[in-house]
Amino acid sequence: MKGSNHPVLAFIGAGNMAQAIIGGLLAQGYPADRIWGTGRDQARLEDLRQRLGIRVSTDNNEAAAAAEVLVLAVKPQIMQAVARSLVDVVQLSRPLVISVAAGISANSLEGWLGGEVALVRCMPNTPSLVQTGASGLYANAQVTALQRIQAEQMLASVGLALWVESEGLIDAVIAVSGSGPAYYFMLMEAMIEAGEAQGLSRDVSTRLTLQTALGAAKMALASDVEPAELRRRVTSPKGTTEQALLRFQQGGLTELVAEAMTACADRGRAMAAELGDA
Ligand SMILES: NC(=O)c1ccc[n+]([C@@H]2O[C@H](COP(=O)([O-])OP(=O)(O)OC[C@H]3O[C@@H](n4cnc5c(N)ncnc54)[C@H](OP(=O)(O)O)[C@@H]3O)[C@@H](O)[C@H]2O)c1
Repeated sequence: MKGSNHPVLAFIGAGNMAQAIIGGLLAQGYPADRIWGTGRDQARLEDLRQRLGIRVSTDNNEAAAAAEVLVLAVKPQIMQAVARSLVDVVQLSRPLVISVAAGISANSLEGWLGGEVALVRCMPNTPSLVQTGASGLYANAQVTALQRIQAEQMLASVGLALWVESEGLIDAVIAVSGSGPAYYFMLMEAMIEAGEAQGLSRDVSTRLTLQTALGAAKMALASDVEPAELRRRVTSPKGTTEQALLRFQQGGLTELVAEAMTACADRGRAMAAELGDA
């Protein structure tokens, strides 16, 4: 089974994030029989097997033993116990290990897995569920050029996948894209409510807000100028948009965003300290 250009993948903890990535891989034609998913609930796994056609197991070691790429996708709080239970198989077969867990350092993981492990730490985000994710990836020194490609292709199947050169930058990735969807959801919430307060129905206010968010993102992606320039172009002097932007500025929006993102990255670092032991 090992060694084709579709490496055998084992997702330890086939929950939301793992299923999003598996869905992206299958949509791109990745052979289902080269993907394993694990969990503790046999009935849920059986449902996964029937829906996606992948191999499933309640035995993490069985799946890991078959894997060239081992994706650790359990919750951060149980990562240490799960990783430690895989030490023998990882030391024997030396797969590429990819962790999608927030707040677990590469150093901790490598220690729990017995050392000398090719490890990619990545931070995907929830829009991966609709194949519009944005992930930052960091590789440790043991990761080969081929393994970098394998990791990047896996995450690219659910959206954008970009490398960062130092692990510290993963906290910045968390602040920008990992937690970023929630910032936009909060702005949407506020806009929907304000639209309603001005007399629109909730439905109309919601649909206009969401379409506007999509349109702005599409325009920014399609454009060869920065968002700041796009903003200037849609802001006529003495016009309506100018009035709104002025209020945002007076309220310190830019500084507030910077503060919020610093708090977010700080929390990522604190979690790594709380959950790690290496
Ligand atoms: N969701 C996101 O947007 C997102 C974004 C970035 C990173 N992440 C990271 O992705 C990881 C998973 O998050 P999630 O949202 O996908 O959580 P989730 O849906 O709860 O998935 C975790 C899965 O792990 C399984 N599990 C629990 N204990 C296990 C064990 N001992 N062995 C094997 N499987 C076990 C659970 O299934 P059973 O109950 O059947 O065991 C569950 O399906 C986390 O580390 C998180 O930090 C998530």
